[in-house]
Amino acid sequence: MDPLSRRAFLKTTTLAGASTLTSVIFPNGITAQAMPQSSPVHKPIVVGSANSAMAFEKVMELLNQGKDALDAVIAGVNIVEDDPKDTSVGYGGLPNEEGVVELDAAVMHGPSYRAGAVAAIRNIKNPSKVARLVMERTDHVLLVGEGALKFAKAHGFQEENLLTDEAREIWLKWKENLSNQDNWLPPHSIDDTTIGETFDAYLQHYGTIHCSALDQNGNLSCVTTTSGRSFKIPGRVGDSPIIGAGLYCDNEVGSAGSTGRGEANLLNCSSVMIVEWMRQGKSPEEASMLACKRINERCCEARLKDEKGRFKQNVAFFALTKRGEYGSAAIWNDTYYMVHDGSSPKKLECAYLFKK
Ligand code: GLY
Repeated sequence: MDPLSRRAFLKTTTLAGASTLTSVIFPNGITAQAMPQSSPVHKPIVVGSANSAMAFEKVMELLNQGKDALDAVIAGVNIVEDDPKDTSVGYGGLPNEEGVVELDAAVMHGPSYRAGAVAAIRNIKNPSKVARLVMERTDHVLLVGEGALKFAKAHGFQEENLLTDEAREIWLKWKENLSNQDNWLPPHSIDDTTIGETFDAYLQHYGTIHCSALDQNGNLSCVTTTSGRSFKIPGRVGDSPIIGAGLYCDNEVGSAGSTGRGEANLLNCSSVMIVEWMRQGKSPEEASMLACKRINERCCEARLKDEKGRFKQNVAFFALTKRGEYGSAAIWNDTYYMVHDGSSPKKLECAYLFKK
């Protein structure tokens, strides 16, 4: 039995027609707000960032077994968190400026209208699982840094070094090319007077995985997990673990999440805005595009704009409605998202605000 089902007693009362009213009673006796549920069986669907077809296969496998959407999306992103080759999430994620991997993650469970999150957690490769425990086993929503680590260890998580050799070498290259005024030098011949190559491939590296899913009971849930911005100042927290910014889910309306420059998203709380725009009748793509426009229009910092006044960096949004409609938009073209609605995962280009 899945953890949520184990810990929460579902009390269901049949109402007129196909709807039911369900309460979730948690072990501490708190009863979650009663919520309308649609009748089974809905066509499951998962939408999110395009980092991993394997994750989407896993999510769909579990949704097809009738699992709760939150169980499914967490199991899916765990595959990416465990993958040393993905330098943007979990184990193998790019580290902070001191070479230490710090992770952020959040989950939202539609049927119980609850959420949990961890930020700047070190040495734990599955922050999404810890975020879920924050939701289920505390009266809090967000734990950070050392407190989050202690909480994870109290629940039996093992500390491990998350810095792979590949991520360390990328970090070292960044550090060696950071400045020609310090003592760190990139590899060079002894008589080379031109050392200090440009290194910008990873400077704006914000990779993240987000999954929003609709399960067979017509319930929505979502997760966002990331190692955040590469080479960040230790303690920097992005949008991913912030409810309303990096993800938002309202079981009556829809679910949304993001990847990309977290600072822009923190300033605009885009995920909750997307869900509210969908509530007002916008399609997932229209709502995601409004979020991109808002980021671009609200940014007044010249350093973040190109010569045409366009927001230079990228943010992408993924959205799913209660009815199973989905869509995505990004600030820049050549950005992709993934959807799985039954047959196989499809990688699609996001609608975009600007073309490179
Ligand atoms: N969107 C991921 C981050 O900025 O941390």
